[in-house]
Amino acid sequence: MEPVKVGLLGLGTVGGGTVNVLARNAKEITRRAGRGINIIHAAARDVNKTRGCNLDGIKVTTDAFAVVNNPDVDIVVELIGGTGVARELVQKALENGKHVVTANKALIARHGNELFATASSKGLMIAFEAAVAGGIPIIKAIREGLAGNRIQWLAGIINGTTNFILTEMRDKGRDFADVLKEAQALGYAEADPTFDVEGIDAAHKLTILASIAFGVPLQFDKAYTEGISGITREDVAYAAELGYRIKHLGMARKRDDGIELRVAPTLIPHRRLIANVDGVMNAVLVYGDAVGPTLYYGAGAGADPTASAVVADLVDVTRTLTADPENRVPHLAFQPEAIANVPVLPVEEIETAYYIRLLAEDKPGVLADVTRILGDQGISIEALIQKEPAEGADTVPVILLTHRMREKQMIAAIKRIEALSSIRAPVTRIRLEHLGAKG
Ligand code: HSE
Repeated sequence: MEPVKVGLLGLGTVGGGTVNVLARNAKEITRRAGRGINIIHAAARDVNKTRGCNLDGIKVTTDAFAVVNNPDVDIVVELIGGTGVARELVQKALENGKHVVTANKALIARHGNELFATASSKGLMIAFEAAVAGGIPIIKAIREGLAGNRIQWLAGIINGTTNFILTEMRDKGRDFADVLKEAQALGYAEADPTFDVEGIDAAHKLTILASIAFGVPLQFDKAYTEGISGITREDVAYAAELGYRIKHLGMARKRDDGIELRVAPTLIPHRRLIANVDGVMNAVLVYGDAVGPTLYYGAGAGADPTASAVVADLVDVTRTLTADPENRVPHLAFQPEAIANVPVLPVEEIETAYYIRLLAEDKPGVLADVTRILGDQGISIEALIQKEPAEGADTVPVILLTHRMREKQMIAAIKRIEALSSIRAPVTRIRLEHLGAKG
């Protein structure tokens, strides 16, 4: 059978990796797909740049629209990123009747609903395994492997850059800014690293996972995001002392009244496998009613790992090129007419436990005031430690762990605690998730 012909948009890290993996594993890929997969046309910003991949036999151009308009191209692979020209190119590819494979999490999280509707109306596929957790086949696992389950919650370390930063802070006591610079130099970070640090990149990925897990539309604008820039070395150390690790965690939970969708620094018991996912590695923990907890671990970024997911999508699309479009695996796992209109809950309504750190005057009655306020708000304390005052200081750090509550209870308590004259600094609060059967 004739090889399938691919147009590639972007010859950066992942684009180069895709060229290499397709060439290196061509025989194995053909055996799996049933026909060869050939890149015939590629677009890059600079055609003369030296790259670590062999472009023989590939027409390279700076005009990306020439690739999506090439009548010989069957599948367009979009690896440009962002929601500007990449969106126009994907739309044009669909208009031209081409299937699309993309690693673009921002595009899918923000515009996936419209793009999937267009694709479905034309009997086309948009495959996006590489958009979430790089090389981990998490989309396929949830969409197909767990299709028999009611998925109750999922939690993921889905940004390698912030995981790398938190790991280095914990293991080497390094400072945030210093580690971020290294992550940028190593090429892990997004073009705009605030996307990593503020949790936007992770929220894009979490939005996609939640839709596939729960059968709801993509709703990135309702996701709550909190970055890691406020995490101090002291918090990392205190959390460790209490038996926890701080991770930048994406959490999606289905409740009767709606869905929690949030990315925030979170304490996790150190004995959980996911708490031990370090460096740039990613992991996603999915809890299905039938299967219980399942954990998926692997490289969340990088040339070959992300190319692994891109090529898997190419194989999938190639296999289904001749299948009845009505009977393909739906883009968001559930049939489009069965996507449910369940609300994403406002952050005040999420349920979580907390780590809080106070800087309190070292005198009688201060802790009594704090615990009374927590009690008034219906907040129950799980653990409390008071540290020694620093040399010459008249204040002491007090660290409290709480049981679960609605976020609004903690907001009200912190307001009252910060109003006490004996509390000298804003209260630090970090969410805490046990990630046991109930999430
Ligand atoms: N900046 C992302 C990360 C790259 O650090 O995980 C992969 O999406």
